[in-house]
Amino acid sequence: MKNVLVVSGHPRLDDDSVVNKAIVEELAKIEGYAVDRLDALYPDFRFDVAAEQAKLMEADVIVLQYPVFWYGMPALLQKWMEDVFEHGFSHGSSGKALVGKELVVSMTIGAPREAYGEGAAVHVEDLLLPVKGACALTGMEFAGFECTYGVSYLSRVTDGARQDMEKAGREQAVRVTELVEKLDA
Ligand SMILES: Cc1cc2nc3c(=O)[nH]c(=O)nc-3n(C[C@H](O)[C@H](O)[C@H](O)COP(=O)(O)O)c2cc1C
Repeated sequence: MKNVLVVSGHPRLDDDSVVNKAIVEELAKIEGYAVDRLDALYPDFRFDVAAEQAKLMEADVIVLQYPVFWYGMPALLQKWMEDVFEHGFSHGSSGKALVGKELVVSMTIGAPREAYGEGAAVHVEDLLLPVKGACALTGMEFAGFECTYGVSYLSRVTDGARQDMEKAGREQAVRVTELVEKLDA
């Protein structure tokens, strides 16, 4: 069985999330999956670096779960990476702790698919560049991504719209598990 660490980067999963909350709740039910709720553990952005590094070392597969904010990851997740991926741990001549681990990105995206499709200023693949760079530097394998488009917080206008988003989140969770299942890790 693979050890899967889901690093949840939504800054307010309990009171300001629909889709990420649904995804995280579904993934948490699966055997072998551990959810690292950064918003709950580190609301002040002050990370227990040793504890986070230990979780990463235990994992075969790391899933970065986040809403796209300003064409990237939320500041909470970005800061986690800045602090936890230390020289000598994840990179540098003696930093080999992440080599060979598989990394999956699971994003939720407010704008519709067309906003990131052909001819758009930013293609969905562009959103992955920093993560792909981090994989190249640390020796992790970039194992692919899943996303759901068109789930902006601005669209949570009716109960029906929220329910559709929750359903989309549960469906994304299934796709993530299918992707993970196929990995060799
Ligand atoms: C500060 C902020 C920045 C955002 N930036 C983007 C963006 O760059 N592109 C985009 O498509 N959606 C953007 N969104 C929309 C979020 O991606 C969307 O609300 C989120 O994925 C919904 O997930 P949730 O229900 O778990 O909060 C942004 C939302 C916020 C609050």
